[in-house]
Amino acid sequence: MAKSPTILAIESSCDETSAAVVHQGKVLNNIIATQNIHKNYGGVVPELASRAHQSNIVPVVDTALRKSGIGKHQLDAIAFTRGPGLLGSLLVGTSFAKAMALSLDVPLIAVNHMEAHVLAHFIVPPHPQFPFICLTVSGGHTQLVLVKDYLDMQVIGQTRDDAVGEAFDKIAKLLGFEYPGGPIIDKNAIKGDAMAFEFPQTNIPGLDYSFSGIKTAVMYFMRDGIAENPDFIKDNLFDICASVQHTLVQMLFRKLIVATKQYKISQVAIAGGVAANTGLRQGLQMLSKSQGWEVFIPEFQYCTDNAAMIAIAGHYKYLERQFSDLFVSPDPRMVLGDPDKNHKSQ
Ligand code: KG4
Ligand code: ZN
Repeated sequence: MAKSPTILAIESSCDETSAAVVHQGKVLNNIIATQNIHKNYGGVVPELASRAHQSNIVPVVDTALRKSGIGKHQLDAIAFTRGPGLLGSLLVGTSFAKAMALSLDVPLIAVNHMEAHVLAHFIVPPHPQFPFICLTVSGGHTQLVLVKDYLDMQVIGQTRDDAVGEAFDKIAKLLGFEYPGGPIIDKNAIKGDAMAFEFPQTNIPGLDYSFSGIKTAVMYFMRDGIAENPDFIKDNLFDICASVQHTLVQMLFRKLIVATKQYKISQVAIAGGVAANTGLRQGLQMLSKSQGWEVFIPEFQYCTDNAAMIAIAGHYKYLERQFSDLFVSPDPRMVLGDPDKNHKSQ
């Protein structure tokens, strides 16, 4: 096995420019520049995201190196997010990582963003034991992942349409919130009654999910409410948020319970931006008691996009000498657990 390395990691898949340094398996820092420019557009504007990454990447990397006290020439490798994500955003991180690896003459490590979300559980203890199931919930993905080892993962269920974060954000937009609306629904839900309104839960066979129906159901529900009372949303905002959040969380849990039974797993983890959701975190704690699970919930900073998770993934890939050459290109639709080196061409 290779020596325990010092690695600089770069994340630029969506709207966070982030850099982190990992030294002998310990993540030293996690510098994140969040792009607020998308707030008024109801979603991430790809071209604006790429430009913001371009202006942020040098100061973010500089800060990560300075704060860790690690000089460029002490680095053993550069890790970066290859995909999935927005092509223009990925290009900025990929090009920067390649240039650094070339100039320092160190290996380049391409990381799958979804694999890194799962590996965020190995940044700080307690760590789950293999095999475990990770429910990865973000703005672009909803996946049930069977994690057999650090770099051996299998997607056993996923959404067939919208990601759960996307459902949160689209419903938030209907309610008049700015992007990303998931955390705003969460904040309002705390003050509401989760049983106040009932929304239909789409249940498709197997371990897959579907979240596009609930957004439409909420839209018609609001239209009917406003027809009777123009202030319907304002008057019921907390209860609507609480009921929507409850419905989405219950949909996530239903398949998670089936998956743990099917694969006889009692170690359960959550990852991704939506793992920051209060209802999901509290609900999982309750399930741990009723289902007899040991649950793993990452710190907030390691749920949403961050380079610390790319760094820890880079660490394990370095130990296995999984390096890329300098011809590697970003892969916006990179698949998790693909036997073809995690890569599927479009
Ligand atoms: O993992 P992430 O930072 O980026 C992607 O890879 O997509 O996830 C972002 C998603 C957004 O949809 C955002 O609304 C959602 O995570 N999110 C939340 C919360 N915090 C972030 N959704 C619900 N409740 C939250 N507290
Ligand atoms: Zn993510």
